Amino acid sequence: MRHLLTTTDLPRETVTALLDTAEALKQALLGREVRKLPTLRGRTVVTLFYENSTRTRASFEIAGKWMSADVVNISASGSSVAKGESLRDTALTLAAMGADCVVIRHPASGAAHRLASWVSTHVINAGDGTHQHPTQALLDAATLRERLGTLNGRIVTIVGDVLHSRVARSNIELLITLGARIHLVAPPTLLPWGVQNWGKGPNREERGWPVTVGHDLDTALPGTDAVMMLRVQAERMHGGFFPSAREYSISYGLTEARLRLLPEHAVVLHPGPMLRGMEIAHSVVDSPRAAIAEQVRNGVHVRMAVLYHLLAAQEEQA
Ligand code: NCD
Repeated sequence: MRHLLTTTDLPRETVTALLDTAEALKQALLGREVRKLPTLRGRTVVTLFYENSTRTRASFEIAGKWMSADVVNISASGSSVAKGESLRDTALTLAAMGADCVVIRHPASGAAHRLASWVSTHVINAGDGTHQHPTQALLDAATLRERLGTLNGRIVTIVGDVLHSRVARSNIELLITLGARIHLVAPPTLLPWGVQNWGKGPNREERGWPVTVGHDLDTALPGTDAVMMLRVQAERMHGGFFPSAREYSISYGLTEARLRLLPEHAVVLHPGPMLRGMEIAHSVVDSPRAAIAEQVRNGVHVRMAVLYHLLAAQEEQA
């Protein structure tokens, strides 16, 4: 694997290998006082963020540091990007300095792919516009695998702003590859055009099912193994997609009463940042059904696994 840009064409064996490595790293670090492996000593990882982030950026940094890489963080606002430097020149500058891997987040869909065509460093997509966020999908899959054992035949209901969500796009592709069935619940205005055909691509027939779509959360929850709540991405909305936050919450918020509609074993996920009280009630976030803190924890191990597979695994095999 040279880059990690999308989950769309990740083969099942690659996904399983990444999740297995993440699990092994988690076990290896469990209870250790000093969380430092020598695996990436002498390697330089640059995080290049053109959009805000708490979890993704910090967990890439921690992942790199726990494997002894040198990690450099660049934000657009504090860099020469603010002086007008292009993405291409920024990338070439980082490559010239000897970066081995660039982790990029950018508001433009496709930015990570462009970057990968300009530089010879490894590129990881940490979120490009509304397009893809592959490490989020991997950490969600890792969390679901831990909680549910397998994803094969499981029904995952994704709720909310699917239209603007790279998390939803990455998860739909990855979870279908792992054998899950995806049901989307959203107001019609927050569903992308043609969403009914997602998951139907070439070779999908033998390994997955097309997504199903509905607008009623109460009828969807009883048959669900996992419910993934999405943030309403106000920063990407230009216009009224729903009447008010209160009305959105009444129809699509995961309340305590709705939590009771889920089967006993069902898991609640949210990629964060959460809008508590709107998308998800305080008590639901804090309930034992919610695996939100586990998602964040697994995010570090999954990102360690991705860095390992990109930067160290081939070398080790050789
Ligand atoms: C998500 C993102 O940035 O795409 N957050 C994350 O990475 N954990 C989801 C969001 O911002 O709503």
